[in-house]
Amino acid sequence: MEKLQVIGARKLRGNIKISGSKNSSLPILAATLLSNKKIEISNLPKVRDIKTMLLLLSSLGAKIKQNSQYNSITIENSKNIKTFASYNLVKTMRAGILVLGPLLARFGEAKVSLPGGCAIGARPVDIHLKALSKLGVKYKIIQGYVHAKAPRGLIGNKIRFSKISVGATENLVIAACLAKGETTLYNCAIEPEIKDLINFLKKMGCNIKFSGKRIIKIKGTQNLQNVKYKIMFDRIEAGTYMIASFLTGGNLKICNVNPKIINTEIKILKKIGAKIKIKQNEINVSGKNEIKNIKLKTSPYPGFPTDLQAQLMVLLCKSNGQSVINEKIFENRFMHASELNRMGAKIKVFGNKAIIQGNIIFKPAELMATDLRASVSLVLAALTAKGKSIINRIYHLDRGYENIEKKLRNVGANIKRIS
Ligand code: UD1
Repeated sequence: MEKLQVIGARKLRGNIKISGSKNSSLPILAATLLSNKKIEISNLPKVRDIKTMLLLLSSLGAKIKQNSQYNSITIENSKNIKTFASYNLVKTMRAGILVLGPLLARFGEAKVSLPGGCAIGARPVDIHLKALSKLGVKYKIIQGYVHAKAPRGLIGNKIRFSKISVGATENLVIAACLAKGETTLYNCAIEPEIKDLINFLKKMGCNIKFSGKRIIKIKGTQNLQNVKYKIMFDRIEAGTYMIASFLTGGNLKICNVNPKIINTEIKILKKIGAKIKIKQNEINVSGKNEIKNIKLKTSPYPGFPTDLQAQLMVLLCKSNGQSVINEKIFENRFMHASELNRMGAKIKVFGNKAIIQGNIIFKPAELMATDLRASVSLVLAALTAKGKSIINRIYHLDRGYENIEKKLRNVGANIKRIS
């Protein structure tokens, strides 16, 4: 099994080009199932979750051509698409459930494996299913599969999500595009990736608009067209490298980003002492200053993202006092804390609250990655630890970070993949 070896205590300096967003690409790829037209998508990140989604679409019968760099594709979903998404492909990637909405919308039926539990929490799909049933879907869960049918096709409705959910908002926006009449979704997630999905769907011919805070209106249509679309930048990858720069006392230029989208992250990093200069498509982060302690909670966009919580925690271990992080999105997203403690951190977890002692000098260690963002937090800590750290189970990291060791090596890190 592959591992990462990091020899730490080097300042990172140089430019890092941010890849396309994984969390935008996944719903957009699923949404291609709505039409039989030719769709060209560029700026896909070369990460395992995208490979899995492409395998899932191929297993349904999509014709996919990848360019030589693999970051742009042409996809055609003919009339003969299958409506069965198997456990083997959905089990490794929760976003597999996003094919449910488009399959039901176009074909009136689907059998999709439940994604199951996940290390960071139970992560059910009840909100997706309840909302789809309001569009006329009847479903049963049999042996781990959702068997769903819309006998009279999907019919527009007014739906209020009981909780803000990124995936449920995406599934419903996609499904409602082909529903008869108008759908209004209330209490929607408004993550930038959802706006990217909506921009893609609109370019495809769908009729969608934001009409108020967390309200999305969709008028169904059958008139879809060929489309070319470029995926937005990965804001979590950008945030991770911004933290890496401040943490190592380095100076990184984070390129290919839209700073307006990550305003909250920029504000928080500035508040705790990072020196940040913003240009139109790049952000310069330097970290000579002292890191200040902070109290913070994660929340849906535009709040501080849960997907950057683990990385921020590493930074706060080196702050000048005690910090508190309140994880409001997932119930079990502090597994990195015990691994960081093995490196000398002093983090105490009480339910969804973590108390983080500052002024820590990380020591190198052999470590175990537990989920995608936890893995990268271990890489960050290892980058500051004097000596050799080994990170096991990096397949989690490969799900969402394109060429991480190459990008870090280019800016001065001593990091390599070993087996
Ligand atoms: C997406 C992101 C993930 C991010 C998360 C929150 C993708 C591919 N993944 O995940 O990186 O961490 O948003 O920003 O975009 N919930 C239910 N029932 C449901 C659906 C969700 O109880 O039917 C709960 C979840 O367990 C969680 C919360 O709602 O506690 C938010 O989850 P959700 O926003 O749906 O996250 P994902 O779409 O899975």
